[in-house]
Amino acid sequence: MSAPRPSCLVVLSSAIEGVSAQSFVQAYTLLSPSFTLQLASPQGRVVEFINQDETNRRWFNEFRSKSSSMPIGLDTVDPVRYTALLVPATGGALHDLISDKDMAQIVSHFILEKKPVCAIGLGVAALCGAKTADKKAWVLENYSLTAPSVYELARTPDFSSMPVILEDFVKDNGARYSCSEPDGVHVVIDRHVVTGQNTQSSLIAVQNLILICSQKQGKVASMR
Ligand SMILES: *[C@@H]1O[C@H](CO)[C@@H](O)[C@H](O)[C@H]1NC(C)=O
Repeated sequence: MSAPRPSCLVVLSSAIEGVSAQSFVQAYTLLSPSFTLQLASPQGRVVEFINQDETNRRWFNEFRSKSSSMPIGLDTVDPVRYTALLVPATGGALHDLISDKDMAQIVSHFILEKKPVCAIGLGVAALCGAKTADKKAWVLENYSLTAPSVYELARTPDFSSMPVILEDFVKDNGARYSCSEPDGVHVVIDRHVVTGQNTQSSLIAVQNLILICSQKQGKVASMR
């Protein structure tokens, strides 16, 4: 008997700073052959995919014609139903997902249940609001993580308007932070949590998420 198709919750920011088109297309393309994908955003609002180029513009035209391209509201998500959680590179996460209480609950569930989580670039901000059950610590305290470095962000025009600097947040909240050079591909895997430093790290980060999921499924299958 074949195992049921795993499902992945893909959370997107609906803030005007948007979601990286490149990171989203890579993640969607890699995951869709083997996962059922569900998109979600705050209140199910429309998502802005930024930095589209000639090739992925065509991809998005086709994508937008599918009903599955409409995100559901984060408040309607039952995290128990999903095998994995993915947040692609999204500058908008610093402005909405970081302080969204439904997002925080979803992340807490995944960390507590040790289910696979992958966050890329500024999408790592989506993980920041989740606290431990006693509300005293960040759920990712003691995890090793990456996110865009201060040095990398300082070169972008948005730097001065960023409400939180992720490198500082990770260090200040008891997690271990590492990074590569700006725009360098850098992925950190700690237990079931995969983080990618930037948009350029999307491909390798998502491939590792898939590997972790298939390893988990294999374990379940061999226990039967
Ligand atoms: C992190 O490690 C410290 C020291 O071992 C421990 O006291 C703390 O509870 C850990 N935090 C979490 C969230 O597991």
